[in-house]
Amino acid sequence: MNGSREIILSADGSSTLKLKEFDECFHSINGALAESLHIFISSGLEFYAGQRDKISLFEMGFGTGLNAYLTLLFAKLHPWLTINYITVEKFPLKEFEYRKLNYPDMVASIPEYRSSAENATEDFVRLFNNLHELPWGSEQNLLPNFSFTKFQTDLLDMEMKSGIVDLIYYDAFSPNTQPELWSTDQFKKLFGWLVPGGILVTYSSKGIVKQALRDSGFLVKRLPGPAGKKHIVRATHP
Ligand SMILES: C[S@@+](CC[C@H](N)C(=O)[O-])C[C@H]1O[C@@H](n2cnc3c(N)ncnc32)[C@H](O)[C@@H]1O
Repeated sequence: MNGSREIILSADGSSTLKLKEFDECFHSINGALAESLHIFISSGLEFYAGQRDKISLFEMGFGTGLNAYLTLLFAKLHPWLTINYITVEKFPLKEFEYRKLNYPDMVASIPEYRSSAENATEDFVRLFNNLHELPWGSEQNLLPNFSFTKFQTDLLDMEMKSGIVDLIYYDAFSPNTQPELWSTDQFKKLFGWLVPGGILVTYSSKGIVKQALRDSGFLVKRLPGPAGKKHIVRATHP
């Protein structure tokens, strides 16, 4: 899953990374920003934030940091909400890679987000770079209501206490490329980390993914997908 990566532009103008050997992208080529906003922010965070004012969130695959960044900005816009964000990444981006991503500019052009920053462009760049430059393995308070911890390890080796996570962004590479990350064993582990009523959102609605989620105890719901994708999945710990 490592190897050479190139930065490309997706259809909504936002950048993403492509793994050359696997012909696999970090996001949808139909729109990286639009995909993250639709799947993880709207169908995951916004949905769950309607039920709680404190969210413990785990993301599989920090990668470009786009999901973490959008979540941080969501917290900035919703100060009544407290988010504790934990993420894992086995192959972190190099500085020359994350500095070329255009997410701060893209986000600064969205009026809702723009209004949340004192000096839009500088503020957005600083917050994005912070996510990449903070040390691994130690909790950092990036906002009064947003704490952030990233672990540089393999998800397969990661352990957490059971029943402490409210929301999981499951953003591994595709089941064809990384079948070991979409297995029943893997989802059983994640199921154990969730609180009752907690949810997992992911972009893959493949039959084997939904079956593995069900076999792990989740209630699985298909939701409409973003551009170029018919369905996504929101799975609930009953
Ligand atoms: C589909 S990309 C998504 C990344 C990220 N959510 C983003 O928005 O850029 C999957 C990410 O998982 C990471 N990854 C792959 N295998 C992993 C593993 N076994 N454990 C932890 N991270 C892994 C990859 O390096 C990549 O950054």
